[in-house]
Amino acid sequence: MKNEINIGLLGFGTVGSGVAKIMHGHQQDLQHKLGVQVSIKKVLVKDITKSRDTELASEIFTNNLEEVLNDPSIDLIIEVMGGTNGARDAIERALLAGKGVVTANKDVMAEYGQELLQLADEMKCDLFYEASVGGGIPLIRTMEDGLASDRISALTGIVNGTTNFILTKMKHENMTYEDALAEATRLGFAEADPSADVDGIDAARKMVILASLAFSTEVQLDDVFVRGLKEIQNGDLELADGFGYTVKLAGSAEKDEDGIAVAVEPVLFPNSHPLASVNNEYNAVYIYGDAVGETMLYGPGAGSLPTATSVTADIVAACRNLLLGMNGKRLHSPQHERKVKSDGKRFARYFHRILVKDEVGVLTKLTAIYSNHGASLATVVQHPDKKESGAELVFITHRMSRQQHLDVMEELNQTPEVLEVLSHYRVEGEK
Ligand code: NAP
Ligand code: HSE
Repeated sequence: MKNEINIGLLGFGTVGSGVAKIMHGHQQDLQHKLGVQVSIKKVLVKDITKSRDTELASEIFTNNLEEVLNDPSIDLIIEVMGGTNGARDAIERALLAGKGVVTANKDVMAEYGQELLQLADEMKCDLFYEASVGGGIPLIRTMEDGLASDRISALTGIVNGTTNFILTKMKHENMTYEDALAEATRLGFAEADPSADVDGIDAARKMVILASLAFSTEVQLDDVFVRGLKEIQNGDLELADGFGYTVKLAGSAEKDEDGIAVAVEPVLFPNSHPLASVNNEYNAVYIYGDAVGETMLYGPGAGSLPTATSVTADIVAACRNLLLGMNGKRLHSPQHERKVKSDGKRFARYFHRILVKDEVGVLTKLTAIYSNHGASLATVVQHPDKKESGAELVFITHRMSRQQHLDVMEELNQTPEVLEVLSHYRVEGEK
């Protein structure tokens, strides 16, 4: 039986420094839980000359990956440096060397998760990735273990802290998009390249990870319909608010006999919906299970200590397995074949904001377009502010297929009385 466990930490930025802080600050608790001492033996960084606020000895910092991977006394590698290819190679090499791995890297797990988990199984090593989705929320473990007996039919949620922070600051503090993004970056929420956050790619990667787990099927990034924050037009947040909605960049995944549908897009949530009041960098995910019904998990979706809490929980789990000699004993192969729903089988309500010529008969012409495509309207409103360029109409539909929505959009765009389709969103809700 081991009497100590040594860790090689790859990365000492927002997350890595948080892991070191928790391991130092909670050392006695961790030792009590595990019965052995767990120590950070080496830390890989890019710039070895950078000054760092840490209790760790400067001699354990290196910029040479080989020094960490080839150290036989290191049992566990914690990959929190980010990026795709370099991080993936490091994880693969660590597993091939028989070392367990904990990662917070959704880029790697969304793209190479299945093959790396397979390799971990073959090498009888653990590969844990709790922090890759939802920062400090124990989502992966809840889905793998807590809901293991249930059949999940859908999930919907806010899975990117940066964009939720930006939308909250824009709505509640009148901050500009640019200032809110700069603040999210300063606080360590945004990715190294924040376009991954604002374009919805970070959330899409997280939805790949969640949907693969939820539905036990392979899900690829290309299967996810993605629209980012840039699709939100000036005035949309206020307009939506006037109708009783809050705009959130949300992920959704559903599965039925027609296949799976996964999306990330700005969605209008009724203000009474719990996700409408998830603010700042907080994330929340609603899970719909056949047996459990509806469950919502909520917590900080980004940031140093919250994310490091999830990484450290994985470290504890991997250490327990190391001590019991039962690493890598999880079955990961997908149970179901990959089948993606067509647009004709994805149903939702839609919000359409349209600038039209201010002429008699335009409203009748537009409503006829909807009914010709079998789309039924729940709300039809003309914006009260008089526009010089024309009149602004807002339509909220009943549920219809994404294909009907696309067909209506196409016809609207070809209609001479329509000056511009200003914006369009999915609306959360059944009716
Ligand atoms: P970060 O602050 O940019 O830190 C990255 C760290 O890795 C830095 O210490 C950097 O070294 C080091 N590094 C980067 N590339 C390297 C390379 N090629 N060789 C050696 N060292 C390298 O990143 P982070 O925010 O901590 O994120 C780390 C990972 O966690 C990412 O996969 C991210 O998506 C994920 N994650 C982040 C959060 C969050 O809230 N930030 C939440 C959940 C998951 P230097 O210090 O010398 O620059
Ligand atoms: N950039 C990510 C976010 C970090 O803002 O959600 C957490 O994964």
